[in-house]
Amino acid sequence: MATMPAATRKPQHDLPLQDSRALMRDHFTEHSGTKYNEGWAKLWEAGDFLPWDRMVPSPALTDTLDNHAYVVGTSKLVLPDGTTRRKRALVPGCGRGVDVMLLQAYGYDVVGLEYASKALEACETYAEETESEDLYTAKDDTIGKGSRKFVQGDFYADDWLERAGLGEHGKEGIFELIYDYTFFCAMQPSMCPAWAKRMSTLLTPNPQANLICLEFPTTKPANGGGPPFSSPSKAYMEHLSHPGEDVPYNDEGEVRMQPFAESGPGALERVGHWQPADTHTIGKHADGTVADYISVWRHR
Ligand SMILES: C[S@@+](CC[C@H](N)C(=O)[O-])C[C@H]1O[C@@H](n2cnc3c(N)ncnc32)[C@H](O)[C@@H]1O
Repeated sequence: MATMPAATRKPQHDLPLQDSRALMRDHFTEHSGTKYNEGWAKLWEAGDFLPWDRMVPSPALTDTLDNHAYVVGTSKLVLPDGTTRRKRALVPGCGRGVDVMLLQAYGYDVVGLEYASKALEACETYAEETESEDLYTAKDDTIGKGSRKFVQGDFYADDWLERAGLGEHGKEGIFELIYDYTFFCAMQPSMCPAWAKRMSTLLTPNPQANLICLEFPTTKPANGGGPPFSSPSKAYMEHLSHPGEDVPYNDEGEVRMQPFAESGPGALERVGHWQPADTHTIGKHADGTVADYISVWRHR
């Protein structure tokens, strides 16, 4: 049974939310456009201000794997000849790698992708420590643990696929599970069309293959800047229905729904949408109720 990491690992977010969000906004105002990836790398290099880093896997992912398998399936992929293999999973912008460790414990062969080299060092340390403490043991002994690889690279480039040992699979349709937690909201709004296109390209066109998005922050005003940028359900819907295309926003920076527009090439279809039973505190309303959503997407 997969267990949670030791309580001694405490996230370093003692700043009030408004202060921490202002610091993030200021940092990325200085690192916008072509300097954006370096902006993330610099935060990891300094290591003293990582306000998104919860140090434990997202409870919403555990809830999804445990209680929504009727939508997302299991780590087992059934091939046309009836044989099976483990699904390949990707966690883009995996940070410290906590969700990578969880998916591995559930039997997936997981790639954790990070642009920041220091984040990858943090992943290896975290993996080593938690394994020596016997955390993240196999969720189901009959399935066992999958493999894991932490890889440096830019989500939008292809070179990391080779480093992940996936070169033989080409450049498209490689992963049967992609988990996005605080990666979409880490993108500047101008990057969202490319984010959707890349997700569509990397996800295997197979009904057993799913992109799982933990939608966060769903209640932040659109004009509040970021990261994290406002990410209501309609933003995921419009971008993933029109991968690579410009999506209309109103003057307040809110996505405009186009319910009657044809889907674009490579569009993903939303096959599940719910509020998880639990999520990190940051994804809850002041009264403790969950504000986040889970959405699950597939090729048509
Ligand atoms: C908000 S953090 C979330 C990290 C992790 N998902 C978590 O919840 O702890 C976003 C992460 O994405 C990484 N990142 C940003 N842009 C990236 C890119 N283009 N390719 C790969 N990683 C990227 C950053 O270095 C950062 O660690």
